[in-house]
Amino acid sequence: MTSESVKSNGWASYPAGAWNAKRPASLVNDVPFWQYCAERYGQPVLDLCCGNGRTAIPLAELGYEVIGVDINPDFIASARERAGADERLPVAFEVQDIVHLRLDGKFRLAIMPDWSFQVLLTQEDQLSFLQSLRQHLRPGGVFAFNVFIPFNRQRGLRESDGKYEWAPDPSYHAGAPRTYDPITQIETLVESNIHTVQLRHTSLSELELLFRLTGFEIVELYGDVDRRPFTGGGDEDYTIVVASSRVASNKNRTVALTGILAVRGFAVPVENELTLGLRRGMWRGQKEIYPVKESSFRPR
Ligand SMILES: C[S@@+](CC[C@H](N)C(=O)[O-])C[C@H]1O[C@@H](n2cnc3c(N)ncnc32)[C@H](O)[C@@H]1O
Repeated sequence: MTSESVKSNGWASYPAGAWNAKRPASLVNDVPFWQYCAERYGQPVLDLCCGNGRTAIPLAELGYEVIGVDINPDFIASARERAGADERLPVAFEVQDIVHLRLDGKFRLAIMPDWSFQVLLTQEDQLSFLQSLRQHLRPGGVFAFNVFIPFNRQRGLRESDGKYEWAPDPSYHAGAPRTYDPITQIETLVESNIHTVQLRHTSLSELELLFRLTGFEIVELYGDVDRRPFTGGGDEDYTIVVASSRVASNKNRTVALTGILAVRGFAVPVENELTLGLRRGMWRGQKEIYPVKESSFRPR
């Protein structure tokens, strides 16, 4: 079954050659962050929307067992080819739609680098993906990913006849035309003579609700892959969120884990505005957001 996102997000038929040219391994310096996650939360690692293996292969080179999945068969072929030189690498690649994952085995860590969560264009697909992912995580397994902060991303949007667009920026995708639909929250990027891709912007509070509906909870939140404190503004382009599937009945463990969120506990299903406001106030002042006590959380 092909998800709605795949039908329109433009990725399934993106030519691998064009993507590889745009995405050399050196372009995004995020591998140390995913390595930090693997060290902290363990393996096997599931690399969701792995593209050409840009992050899966370096993790496997460090000795982590990794499965990479992507909707684009051309990208998967390219990833296999790049990994192929060393047959001992503990990495495998599969063509899969992340909205309906079907993999053998369960993972301690799933990563989703490079804003790939945004390829999911509807809440339905986001929910289905998170539910499907949860089925593939071991108890206490962790999901780490990054997304653009919508407000930051929307800077410079201009309106003309009810349509929203950004002025062409030669330093961004060679000035490719970009438009935004405020109702669907979808940005459309027409890469000059290459391809059209779409990405949905999701606010942090919307993400929190999606997590709550699917049994995840934020355990670490940063302003960048260098793990700087999250403030939500300034020059931060995106945020890193790590969510963990949780055993609902173990209230003490949750309280210990969340620290500043102790008042909430896990038995209270709905968080009120005051609690949310308090948390946001705390985020701004915290060095490590959602400070996870070292001793309290260990993936099983
Ligand atoms: C922004 S690229 C990131 C690629 C890679 N993670 C990286 O960091 O270089 C987004 C990726 O998501 C993949 N993708 C899009 N929709 C997907 C879906 N429904 N299921 C699996 N992969 C998908 C695309 O094919 C593409 O490789």
